[in-house]
Amino acid sequence: MPWNLIPKTLNADQPAPHLADYAAARATFSWADARAELAGLPDGGLNIAFEAVDRWVATGQGNSVALRWLGKKGERRDFSYAELARLSNQFANSLERLGIRPGDRVCVLAGRIPELYITALGTLKAGAVFCPLFSAFGPEPVRVRLANSRARVLVTTSLLYQRKVQALRPVLPDLASVLLTDSDNDEPGLHAFHALLDAESDHRPLPCTQPEDWALLHFTSGTTGAPKGAIHVHEAVVAHRWTGRMALDLRPGDIYWCTADPGWVTGVSYGIIAPLTNGATLVVDEAEFDVRRWYAILEQERVNVWYTAPTAIRMLMKAGPEPARGLDLRALRFMASVGEPLNPEGVVWAVETLGQPFHDTWWQTETGAIMIANYRSQDIRPGSMGRPLPGIDAAIVQRRPDGSVDFPMPGEEGELALRVGWPSMFRAYLDDEPRYQQCFAGDWYLTGDLATCDADGYFWFVGRNDDVIKTAGHLIGPFEVENVLLEHPAVAEVGMIGKPDEFAGQIVKVFVSLKPGYAPGDTLRKELIGFARTRLGPAVAPRELEFIDDLPKTRSGKIMRRLLRARELGLPLGDLSTLEGES
Ligand code: PRX
Repeated sequence: MPWNLIPKTLNADQPAPHLADYAAARATFSWADARAELAGLPDGGLNIAFEAVDRWVATGQGNSVALRWLGKKGERRDFSYAELARLSNQFANSLERLGIRPGDRVCVLAGRIPELYITALGTLKAGAVFCPLFSAFGPEPVRVRLANSRARVLVTTSLLYQRKVQALRPVLPDLASVLLTDSDNDEPGLHAFHALLDAESDHRPLPCTQPEDWALLHFTSGTTGAPKGAIHVHEAVVAHRWTGRMALDLRPGDIYWCTADPGWVTGVSYGIIAPLTNGATLVVDEAEFDVRRWYAILEQERVNVWYTAPTAIRMLMKAGPEPARGLDLRALRFMASVGEPLNPEGVVWAVETLGQPFHDTWWQTETGAIMIANYRSQDIRPGSMGRPLPGIDAAIVQRRPDGSVDFPMPGEEGELALRVGWPSMFRAYLDDEPRYQQCFAGDWYLTGDLATCDADGYFWFVGRNDDVIKTAGHLIGPFEVENVLLEHPAVAEVGMIGKPDEFAGQIVKVFVSLKPGYAPGDTLRKELIGFARTRLGPAVAPRELEFIDDLPKTRSGKIMRRLLRARELGLPLGDLSTLEGES
């Protein structure tokens, strides 16, 4: 099959795509129309959780399954929209009893358990801000995020609490209440999640949030400084729902599976909000990746729409065609991918092995929702991220020294930019207005991604213009990793890079120079990797560590990670005289 075009696969027995005519949809679309499709609240109010669950109850669809939870040990539990509405009411009432006020932050540190979903929805109903923390984070990333968000409440499990939070309580004075999902403990500051909810009414008055009230806080990494807290408001739900319809082709009654963990933005925007606001049944698998389990879920749950990521796709490819042989995937209408470059091989492999292609989509924590996509109604150019959604203007720009931007010729590389004004655009970086402002040039938001755009308007990913990396789809910043290693007495300097990896896309690799009196060796290497793992957790800690006498630095002393990258890849080091002059 030629790799330059994968024809669309539209079966006559499946519903026609929501986005049938791309050009016409772009020409006629308005965000006001998308907004008008939501239920809304009296006096111009808007609430994500109300749009996700209660509106379906109000229109008589409360008995349909909202959440189908598949537990690690084979458990299976369905929650109807009405049940989720009641449980999230109880959670919101519990928050009020704990003294939580609108705008307060409620964090969750848990795997994919039902309580996480109840927490997210209940927090939003109470007008508080929901902030998920990835459960594979070690104590250090957890501490930084709990402290910087000034979380008042944390929902977690006993095990995660003991391992990662308990010892931090003295340095987290704002964290008044921890709710344990699997314990009967009730003591000051520590509560049993279920007992707390059971004591509350499952009724609540309508939420009183306004569209611009803060709703979601997602931490994301940059090259420098602590993780940035991207703030999204309730108005974002307009984009969550609309992009779920247009880019993922979601519709009421669909069985939908998003494999992303809700510790990251995809697992919230598309693992909770987009499917529920579109009336779908959300499949949640608590277990980790497993080839046979995943194929069984697709087949047995009769998944209609599947949203996954290139690392998982590469793992499925690695397992070969045998586990996929004989699978009945007739229910599967649409498959999409996000988070890292989707290799053309992955698209072609999917057509050959699963009978249909993956559709790449592009977005980021700051955009809150899908911005660029390959659509069900369109042929695919493998390797391309696709074209902007109706309502989204994207362009390739080059920054000028004065902070304004130039628009290069079609086909030339530059930074991917989006015209401001879509509903799910982040509204702030928590406590960091200067950093927020740096993301904009006039009415363009600058994404930090390098890309090209071809003559037909398809965007092609080139790389990042900073030093953050993607490993197994997770965005990791050098600052957090390097800082932890610098705490070790042997370490003088550290530089982190992403080393290309066949499956994870990139792995975290660090170059370390040692203080006088310490000698490089295997024992020290293992000790340092272990040290980082204990503090950062396996998802963030370096997989490789190389000792180096001197790290390349600019005259002002900044470590030049791109020279480390070039060295790793065996690339020419470039003109060192100019690089040395960088500040
Ligand atoms: O570099 C881009 C990459 O992931 C970054 C955003 O990561 P994060 O904020 O964690 O959001 C994850 C939810 C999408 C982007 O700046 N990225 C995302 N999608 C793609 C991608 N790189 C290549 N192709 C994609 N489809």
